[in-house]
Amino acid sequence: MITATEFVRQSLALHLFFIRIMKEHSFFLELGFTPRDYNLTNQADYFRKAFDAMLADTIALSGGVVSNEVLKSGEVITPYTLKAETVSSYYTGIRIRTELTEAQAGLEGDGMAVSPLLEQRVQALNNNAINLVSSLIQFKSAILSGVLSCSLFTMNYPLLIDHILREAKLYLTMIQRLQNKEEFNPEKEAYEQESFWNRIMGEHAKFIRGLLDPTESDLFAAANNFGNEFDQLSAEVEQAMDKTLPLKKVTAENLDAVKQIRDFKLSGTQGLLECKIKSIIIPLLGDHVLREANHYLRLLNMFDKSL
Ligand SMILES: [Fe+2]
Ligand SMILES: [Fe+2]
Repeated sequence: MITATEFVRQSLALHLFFIRIMKEHSFFLELGFTPRDYNLTNQADYFRKAFDAMLADTIALSGGVVSNEVLKSGEVITPYTLKAETVSSYYTGIRIRTELTEAQAGLEGDGMAVSPLLEQRVQALNNNAINLVSSLIQFKSAILSGVLSCSLFTMNYPLLIDHILREAKLYLTMIQRLQNKEEFNPEKEAYEQESFWNRIMGEHAKFIRGLLDPTESDLFAAANNFGNEFDQLSAEVEQAMDKTLPLKKVTAENLDAVKQIRDFKLSGTQGLLECKIKSIIIPLLGDHVLREANHYLRLLNMFDKSL
């Protein structure tokens, strides 16, 4: 059993990262449908707004509670999030609640005692999140099966829909574990998270590769290399699970590779915002994958210390 303080701090940290991720998935889905499927566009918009409301609630509970390490990791927001939102809103005509980004930027780190009332509120928030994420999982699954059976066309890659579905499922699993007050096991967690996020990092590289303008040869080659590297690293995590490679060594290698892809995503996001890269990447997607790399980096640093 984890303590009430850990339960509150970890739940809020998880939501500060993942709710924003979920609202952006809804945004990317919303942008991808054809005029025929305005109904799906509206559903995606509904999810986006529901996650916005939940993020506002989370921020209101988080001040003085969530660790500085999480707040400063660049997984909650980055220095580019606000601009990426402003530009993406300008391109699409969709209003993005940038005041939530400003509120997240102003969050103070931990130091406050956790009251029983706060614990109750977080428990309720977790239940709401379980319900909303479960509905989003159903929505994403329905879109994916429509695309795979060719009854639906969207501008999002089938792999991207599958990818964001897996991210939602991971989030749901992690909230459920917190609700059950499950104790953290560094080794088990390291295997699971490294196997999950290595695949995600490789797929990000492949999405970027596929969304760049065909003339962007250097960036295309760099993205392609990252895709191959993370395929290789994913295989190494499997070997660590089979005990044919030491987990500590694999974690250290992942840490190096993720720092590199994080830098690649960071300069890519800057390039998109400065209009220096030709692509069909909506700028908020650049910042989104940058935050996911920052999140994974924080986990890797933690595993690296505890293994
Ligand atoms: Fe994502
Ligand atoms: Fe992702």
